Amino acid sequence: MATTDTYIQGNYAPVRDEITAVDLPVTGTIPAALDGRLMRIGPNPVEDAAAGDHWFTGTGMAHGVRIRDGRADWYRNRYVVSDRVSEALGRPITPGPRFHDGEGTANTNIIEHAGMTLAIVEAGSPPVLLTDELETVERIDFGGTLDGSFSAHPKRDPLTGELHVATYHWTWDFIRYLVVDTAGSVRHSVDVPVGHSPMVHDVAITESSILLLDFPCHFDLDVAMTGAQLPYVWKDDQPSRVGVLPRHGSADDVTWCEVDPCYVFHPLNAFDLADGRIQLDVARHDSVFKTVRNGPAEGNPTLDRWILDPATGHTTETRLDDRSHEFPRHDERLEGRESRIGYTVGFTGAEGPAYKHDLVSGDVEVHSFGEGRVSQEMVFVPRSVDSAEDDGWCMSYVHDATTDKADVVILDAQDFTGEPIATIHLPQRVPFGFHGNWAPAE
Ligand SMILES: [Fe+2]
Repeated sequence: MATTDTYIQGNYAPVRDEITAVDLPVTGTIPAALDGRLMRIGPNPVEDAAAGDHWFTGTGMAHGVRIRDGRADWYRNRYVVSDRVSEALGRPITPGPRFHDGEGTANTNIIEHAGMTLAIVEAGSPPVLLTDELETVERIDFGGTLDGSFSAHPKRDPLTGELHVATYHWTWDFIRYLVVDTAGSVRHSVDVPVGHSPMVHDVAITESSILLLDFPCHFDLDVAMTGAQLPYVWKDDQPSRVGVLPRHGSADDVTWCEVDPCYVFHPLNAFDLADGRIQLDVARHDSVFKTVRNGPAEGNPTLDRWILDPATGHTTETRLDDRSHEFPRHDERLEGRESRIGYTVGFTGAEGPAYKHDLVSGDVEVHSFGEGRVSQEMVFVPRSVDSAEDDGWCMSYVHDATTDKADVVILDAQDFTGEPIATIHLPQRVPFGFHGNWAPAE
């Protein structure tokens, strides 16, 4: 059970050094076909941390490992330079636009789009452009086409390469849906009224629809007035529902499908069924910020399947696996399409296994990284552009409690329970954080 100081202790605590290490030691053999960067980001408070600090609001720090020719060329970690970082470390203010009077923290995801490496976050701060080597360049507004909140979870349509994004801000009583084109401009925007100010962490897409997540964790002005770092709290009297927005539809076209009370940060994937319904797999929390206010820690998140019926607003809910699962990922060449395999990691407890789910048969394979070794989110990298689903590698940053350092572990996805094919040893730990991605070299 999380306590008020969980998120400042152990491997949640920030690291202080920004390191450049080259030619990293490797156990095993890195596949020669891997050529790119394994990027990761999470909160790393630049100030002294205090009990009760919210996990979600710490200054961002990006980590990356450059892999090519069977070698791990370098590891780097760098602050994403927000105003807090500038003030604390005496660095220049990061240029670029500001939204909603924010101080520019971007700590939740790091993606590659339109040739840019971007640190991104929900609910206010603009994307922050980084160099390939993770140095902060500027805040961006996609060439003047973005004028408010972005999100940490754009979904890339594999057919078009465009990003589909759900955004929100505490002053908005709507969820804003955006499409960012392949050149990096917002080309489409729809505001969907919801009548309250929910925390909207992610989105799902199918070939026909955008799935908007509206769960009963809302902005609370009274809590904000107490000085809470993240004034979003559980609202027992508000609905849990998924809005089905047709791809080219307007707000009037949204149909809402109710589910039992819960919170979802992360869908695994979604796709259209032949009969007009939609299958959506999610990591489901019973509640968040109801009793524990500084992180999601109100019971094990489970892996659940929802069959949404936009014609009736009814949802059929099935528990797929009742162990603790978070940070679900899949082969993103199948984003919004029928996919069979999902990857998750355990979210609570000292052991941090990873899971591979056959979402058709229900089979689950478990990879244990060993005693005291905890995997952060897994990233699937296909063996080649046209290899089959699941034919590739699962890569993650793994914390080792014995050495108090991190490894990047590479598994053969099709030998998921087998020994890692390569383990890259990093010179320091990588704090428990949020998300990352593989950025292939050009
Ligand atoms: Fe997330």
